[in-house]
Amino acid sequence: MKDHSVKLTILNMLSQGGFHSGQDLGEQLGMSRAAIGKHIKGIQEWGVDVYSVQGKGYQLSKPMQLLDEALLKSKVDTPLELIPIIDSTNQYLLDRVDQLESGSVCIAEYQAKGRGRRGREWVSPFGSNLYLSIYWRLDAGMAAAMGLSLVVGVAIVEALEKQGIDGVKLKWPNDLYFQDKKLAGILVEMSGQAGAAANLVIGMGINLNMVADNQDDQGVTSNITQPWVSLSEVCNALPNQPPIDRNELAATLVNTLHSTLNDYEMRGMTGFVERWNRLDNFLDRKVKLIMSSREIEGIARGINEQGAVLLETEQGVESFIGGEISLRNNEASQ
Ligand code: ATP
Ligand code: BTN
Repeated sequence: MKDHSVKLTILNMLSQGGFHSGQDLGEQLGMSRAAIGKHIKGIQEWGVDVYSVQGKGYQLSKPMQLLDEALLKSKVDTPLELIPIIDSTNQYLLDRVDQLESGSVCIAEYQAKGRGRRGREWVSPFGSNLYLSIYWRLDAGMAAAMGLSLVVGVAIVEALEKQGIDGVKLKWPNDLYFQDKKLAGILVEMSGQAGAAANLVIGMGINLNMVADNQDDQGVTSNITQPWVSLSEVCNALPNQPPIDRNELAATLVNTLHSTLNDYEMRGMTGFVERWNRLDNFLDRKVKLIMSSREIEGIARGINEQGAVLLETEQGVESFIGGEISLRNNEASQ
């Protein structure tokens, strides 16, 4: 694995705030100003906005709270690894299901190959969001894995609500939305079967403080192909909502996931349909379902016990399920 310790040390210093001259950073790290300059370039390629002012040095354009592994471990009751720079937290756990205890968690500050459904890219700049995966061995097997992303979505939104963050909704099957913009995505993946049990990795990416690139910036958010939002904007829209503590939120999510997955193992989707439908971003709205060979238009009517999406068309209410289906807003159409 590549050694990123110099860049991470520089980021740690910059995250304390203020300007840091190339000279000072170089002296502390035992390298030249030119070498520091190269590392700063690498940090910018991770999606961090660092700027320099002649005679003063480098500064972050906005404050950054780094994740703290020791603090996280003290707040959760499960094996947890913080790997700041990674390809994909889901892939990391999938590659290690044979060695890991069920419930193990991997968290990152930056993903070079973060992914969404069907191999789509999940844009994962350093330090501004949460990228978190959990390995879960589901003894009930593959069939029980259906509906998991729905249950996890409900658990996350309810955890946010408990902290006073209202207005976050769900889009079938795997997204969190705020005011019709994508806030987070959930990706459930499986690795080879151990007997009848399923080895699942449940990953989530939640935008926390991500800001859009400047027009002249070759940054990362311009790769996102749909409207998106960060949790900081959601909090700003609410009265008296304190700023987000990334470590606190990560720990809350891990603990929420644990209890939800235990619950799901015992009770399946029972009780979840109503909870999901309450949070449905598209309930009673015009949508279309995009499938490999066709599109169907109708009114969204929530989900059923199997985790299928319900669509009302001229034929009545029909259910649809399967990983190849995408739901889209259709209100702009006639
Ligand atoms: P589907 O309904 O098929 O799941 P989707 O648009 O939600 O459709 P996903 O595969 O779930 O697609 O997620 C990938 C989508 O999310 C792409 O449109 C991608 O541009 C967008 N995306 C990537 N990174 C982010 C991010 N950090 N925040 C919001 N959206 C993102
Ligand atoms: C989606 O909306 O399609 C799901 C996005 C899931 C992104 C998370 S970030 C942590 C984990 N690692 C990944 O590579 N993907 C998931």
